[in-house]
Amino acid sequence: MRPVAWNSMNQQTAVTDSAAPRTKTLPDAQTVTEVRHYTDRLFYFRTTRPRSLRFRSGEFVMIGLPGENGKPIMRAYSIASPSWDDGLDFYSIKVQDGPLTSRLQHIKEGDEIILRPKPVGTLVLDALLPGKRLWFLATGTGIAPFASLMRDPETYEQYDEVIMMHTCREVAELDFGRQLIESLPEDPLIGEFVGDKLKYYPTTTREESKWMGRVTDNLTSGKVFRDLGLGAEQMDPATDRAMVCGSLDFNKDVMAIMEGWGLREGANSEPAEYVVEKAFVG
Ligand SMILES: Cc1cc2nc3c(=O)[nH]c(=O)nc-3n(C[C@H](O)[C@H](O)[C@H](O)COP(=O)(O)OP(=O)(O)OC[C@H]3O[C@@H](n4cnc5c(N)ncnc54)[C@H](O)[C@@H]3O)c2cc1C
Ligand SMILES: NC(=O)c1ccc[n+]([C@@H]2O[C@H](COP(=O)([O-])OP(=O)(O)OC[C@H]3O[C@@H](n4cnc5c(N)ncnc54)[C@H](OP(=O)(O)O)[C@@H]3O)[C@@H](O)[C@H]2O)c1
Repeated sequence: MRPVAWNSMNQQTAVTDSAAPRTKTLPDAQTVTEVRHYTDRLFYFRTTRPRSLRFRSGEFVMIGLPGENGKPIMRAYSIASPSWDDGLDFYSIKVQDGPLTSRLQHIKEGDEIILRPKPVGTLVLDALLPGKRLWFLATGTGIAPFASLMRDPETYEQYDEVIMMHTCREVAELDFGRQLIESLPEDPLIGEFVGDKLKYYPTTTREESKWMGRVTDNLTSGKVFRDLGLGAEQMDPATDRAMVCGSLDFNKDVMAIMEGWGLREGANSEPAEYVVEKAFVG
């Protein structure tokens, strides 16, 4: 989908991007610089970043496309790249009848999307009290904010150990996260911060793979603690911190487990032991 109509409707010139100066067609337009499709339900894309956009790794912004009636169709998206990066990564679902992603899934390099430069969110390091071990708990596209935080040196400066638990139905749905995580130790910018601090625990629930099962079951049974050799069977509110991002049911179930272990929900205004954000609504 190339929004050529924007050119004729609302042409203006702006040079606010990290990309080379070019003619832009909408206020808040950013240019797509890369697209990768993972499955028929999941894809990744990268855009230019407005120079004015400052955000904390883990936050989300509103992005979208112009609608048929001229009113933009905007949705919340986690920024999947770290705050130091000069481009912006996004990891997206494709909902076949979804107002935005039925069209967004067809974007190509050189196309434009709308990006409102007002980042917000609770999945930020500032919303947690100091600790030793940080858990990232995600299902599906809920890994997006952690793709940002896993590449932020601050994460490794604040924690001795970082555990990324990601669960999807099928193996191919893990690929985006797996490829990113496998590339980190060798990454020239972030590799030395990551070192051997990052432990990855990917599981599937509907296709055979090395590790199976829901995040919730692997936490309560103690399996993840044993498989990773963590020397404990549950989280300790004195030292463990967690960030959760998945469906509403997933978030609720994980919160109940952590509350049972004595961890409390934090916020920007009142840091505590864990923070939660929905990966989607509905
Ligand atoms: C804080 C926040 C951050 C978000 N970050 C992302 C992100 O980084 N990547 C992303 O793909 N989406 C993200 N979403 C969801 C996103 O806002 C849209 O819902 C999604 O892009 C689909 O838009 P749509 O208009 O096509 O369909 P919608 O009408 O928005 O959704 C239709 C239905 O599709 C399902 N659905 C929507 N999004 C997802 C999803 N991500 N995974 C599984 N099922 C879904 C739900 O059942 C929903 O009711 C986020 C949502 C919130 C609230
Ligand atoms: N993924 C697909 O292939 C697919 C295809 C077509 C349509 N959809 C629809 O798209 C929507 C989103 O699908 P999705 O796969 O991205 O997300 P999802 O249904 O939330 O499932 C993602 C992963 O989270 C697990 N999970 C779900 N609820 C949980 C809970 N309460 N506690 C712990 N783990 C939980 C699932 O395990 P379980 O497998 O055990 O549920 C699965 O491994 C759903 O409405 C689905 O019906 C999905």
